[in-house]
Amino acid sequence: PVYYNGMYHLFYQYNPHGALWDVGNLSWGHSVSGDLVNWADLGNALDPTALFDANGCASVSVTILPDGNPVILYSGIDADRRQVQNIAFPKNPLDPLLREWVKPSYNPVVPLPADVSPDNFLHRRRGAASRDAVMAECPDLFPVAPRGAAEGLDTSARGPGVRHVLKVSMPDKLQDYYAVGRYDDETDTFTPDEEDARGGGGDYRRWRRIDHGHLYVSMTFFDARRNRRVLWAWVNESDSEADDVARGWSGLQSFPRALWLDAGGRQLVQWSVEEIETLRRRRADLVDAEVEAGGLREIGDVESSQADVDVVFEVPSLVRAEGLDPSRLLDADALCGEKGASVRGGVGPFGLLVMASGDDLREHTAVFFRVFRILHEYTVLMCTDLTRSSTMAGVYKPMHGGFVNVDIEKDEHIESASPIPCTLGTEPLTIDHSIVESFGGGGRTCMTARVYPEHVATGSGHLYVFNNGSDAVKVPKLEAWELATASVNVVAAEDDDGLVASETRQVLC
Ligand SMILES: *[C@@H]1O[C@H](CO)[C@@H](O)[C@H](O)[C@H]1NC(C)=O
Ligand SMILES: *[C@@H]1O[C@H](CO)[C@@H](O)[C@H](O)[C@H]1NC(C)=O
Ligand SMILES: *[C@@H]1O[C@H](CO)[C@@H](O)[C@H](O)[C@H]1NC(C)=O
Repeated sequence: PVYYNGMYHLFYQYNPHGALWDVGNLSWGHSVSGDLVNWADLGNALDPTALFDANGCASVSVTILPDGNPVILYSGIDADRRQVQNIAFPKNPLDPLLREWVKPSYNPVVPLPADVSPDNFLHRRRGAASRDAVMAECPDLFPVAPRGAAEGLDTSARGPGVRHVLKVSMPDKLQDYYAVGRYDDETDTFTPDEEDARGGGGDYRRWRRIDHGHLYVSMTFFDARRNRRVLWAWVNESDSEADDVARGWSGLQSFPRALWLDAGGRQLVQWSVEEIETLRRRRADLVDAEVEAGGLREIGDVESSQADVDVVFEVPSLVRAEGLDPSRLLDADALCGEKGASVRGGVGPFGLLVMASGDDLREHTAVFFRVFRILHEYTVLMCTDLTRSSTMAGVYKPMHGGFVNVDIEKDEHIESASPIPCTLGTEPLTIDHSIVESFGGGGRTCMTARVYPEHVATGSGHLYVFNNGSDAVKVPKLEAWELATASVNVVAAEDDDGLVASETRQVLC
């Protein structure tokens, strides 16, 4: 993803030969948007046409050079099936759509290094593996503003308050991890902060997760128009390959998220870009409501298969929080599996049921919280339970879990209510209504899930708030909106000047 000359661009790995990744040689697709919500397809930016990419254009990164011109660096699989790094320039840098790209004949610019195997020098944008290290896909190193400041920084930003984030995507786990630290230009070295014991130094397995669900190879870009850093990720399918082939496509992008360093300076906060609000339509809400122990309450009038929900829960007391052994902090997924939405608890589980099939609840996806006590401290677990998301067989229906870093304990000590803010959005941009993106604790813990409910084909999706804890929970605020359908990858007309001139979304529709 990149912002250039008034337009947002997404260059993405695309297989013109079918819905599966490993059938045929890869190209790079290219879409543009004026608002990050509605997108137009511009056709392929790169196709495998030269000796240095004959077997595929496998992995791409776009960046803006100091002179302001964009450049593509990409991994080609050459005629001998070796992975090499190539460069490409826009044919006309003045074209804001950057439609055509030129690959100079002096490619590859980085041939295969002697200590790297021919099939390990690719891996989606800038990754590489050496004999001494495991492969990392899509590494992304970017500066963030000092604690709590939401504005983004351009990649070249340096200065006393500037921190850096290193994000890596690890193929052994298919998960994205990050560490906050400092980058030294002189030595070209990134050092994770030591003050954060959970930082785990150089061991990515102890770094924080970008998302605790089903999301991979995220990348960020600096959005100069709105002065923010935006993260964007690929979310693959969880149904069968046969389903992908039948549908004719597979994989999608999450909704773009703004991200920044939280006030504590140790973790990132992510939130869907505000442009999603332009899609909001019919609204339902709860104000100062209460859900009793064992309660289930439908939020009427909102079709939850395409919706955006913002909810705050307030826990009147932590006295009944269940005790937890500290060793259980290591596997949130398993803990969510054991302590699911239907396992009655002390403080929680409480949360939302989305994409629910009406009264019988045969199909539903539960997104919920549960508060535990560890010695004299409290911790909040967030779960997305997919086990009942679909009655369809052959679909991956895991339990996703993560801990939410909110200071619920502090509020307990001053004996006031402890709000646990959680926002949950069901993603509107997919034609099959199959993604749920949740942001807990104001965006500190994010969870993306793919769901394939069968009821949406014939009926509407329902939305509920529930509480299976021992005491009532308060819901000071719940706002839910149905979302209009965005316009995604409409083929742009050749001479559509409006596409360039205007920033309003209907131009792209
Ligand atoms: C992929 O490219 C190679 C080299 O040009 C070619 O031999 C092969 O037929 C291509 N495969 C497909 C499915 O087009
Ligand atoms: C895609 O999703 C499936 C199901 O979750 C998973 O088993 C598979 O490993 C994923 N593939 C990639 C490349 O992420
Ligand atoms: C709440 O717990 C009861 C009893 O275990 C269960 O029947 C019900 O399905 C649970 N609610 C949800 C939303 O899981």
